[in-house]
Amino acid sequence: MKKTMTSFTILIGLLGLGFGTGSCDPRDSIQGGFHVYLTWKSEDTSRTMTVLFIDAGRTMNTPVVRYDTEARGTEPALYRHEVKAESWDFEKTGVHVHSAELKDLTPGATYFFAAGDADVGFSAERKFRTIPNDSSPLRFVVGGDMDVNESVPQLLQHAAALEPQFALIGGDIARDNGKISNFPKWDMWLKYWGEKMLTPQGFTVPMVLAVGNHEVDGLFGTRAFAQAPFFIGLFKQNGEKTYFTRTFGADTVVHVLDTGHIFSHGGKQRDWLFGQLTKHVSTKNRFALYHIPLYPSHRDFNSMGSRKGRDQWLPLFDLFGLTAGFESHDHALKRTKMLQQGREVSAGGTVYFGDGAWGIHPRVLSAARPWYVASSSATRHFWVVDVNEGAQSRNSYRAIGMDGKVLDEYIAAP
Ligand SMILES: [Fe+2]
Repeated sequence: MKKTMTSFTILIGLLGLGFGTGSCDPRDSIQGGFHVYLTWKSEDTSRTMTVLFIDAGRTMNTPVVRYDTEARGTEPALYRHEVKAESWDFEKTGVHVHSAELKDLTPGATYFFAAGDADVGFSAERKFRTIPNDSSPLRFVVGGDMDVNESVPQLLQHAAALEPQFALIGGDIARDNGKISNFPKWDMWLKYWGEKMLTPQGFTVPMVLAVGNHEVDGLFGTRAFAQAPFFIGLFKQNGEKTYFTRTFGADTVVHVLDTGHIFSHGGKQRDWLFGQLTKHVSTKNRFALYHIPLYPSHRDFNSMGSRKGRDQWLPLFDLFGLTAGFESHDHALKRTKMLQQGREVSAGGTVYFGDGAWGIHPRVLSAARPWYVASSSATRHFWVVDVNEGAQSRNSYRAIGMDGKVLDEYIAAP
């Protein structure tokens, strides 16, 4: 790892902002200095958590995450557990990423943690909760197409206020276009996330991300790791592979897919998807998260990305009765009818929610709605999904707008 120290980081180091033992506010994210965020690099979200942290130009010789089931406030030495982080950096940026996977955790439990290094200091204490490994109700938020404009922190604040247990993000996130020179966009995005995605109870919300065209250097086609440095390098959810599965409790599975940005729809990814849908066929809620919509609200139905998705994946979604697809890319609010085999059905089909306007400027929709769309508008939003809600264990899907109010709602039949 490079041990560069820029004058900027020396300055913030001297100021001690958000670092060391004196701070106890986890909102002390430092642009260009230090971010702490959560994802999973294993399928099991009940017993693992991956803590990532970034420093710019600091010299952490032994980056670790210290954690416990009890709060330790400003005394990181008191945490009973410690995991060493693996580290890597981005060429020519002085930005180091550290990743530590916490394992053998208790399902449905709260953990307190701090990330850092004994010599440099530790982050302020944060806390997370593992997902219960039973049929408990679950709440998560989902959307895509964000960017770093002023709408993003506002929507994130509304999302956090709902106490979600995790967030699904369907691509075109900081819109870095695979260019190292765009790290400042991620720096700002992670600052927004770190500050705003704290729930009222103080939990940091883990995120699961799908790749979009604005994460790669070039719009479409099969791309190598070098073309998506930040999407891969800031998270390493599954090494360099952009399709994987995460399970959430006993009743929910999410298949995260790549709509042709690094891996093509067909071939190995399609074969893998078939295997995963087969493996999880008896799970009650089977969701897919991906960027380009199979059923677009704005673009032409036969645009290339949508057509490829329908050619390669739709027969599988229909065969296995996918519960819902979470789509993005078209920058609008959309909910489809329940669909199967290219027509509306009353049961057993899939509803597609989208279309990615979690901050980005929405696109104007044509007055003539496509036949498959039940509801759509050019509105910034995210979706909040409740699984196993109430006495009937139903699922509900609500779109939330800039004012925090419900824009659209769909309650699935039990
Ligand atoms: Fe996109």
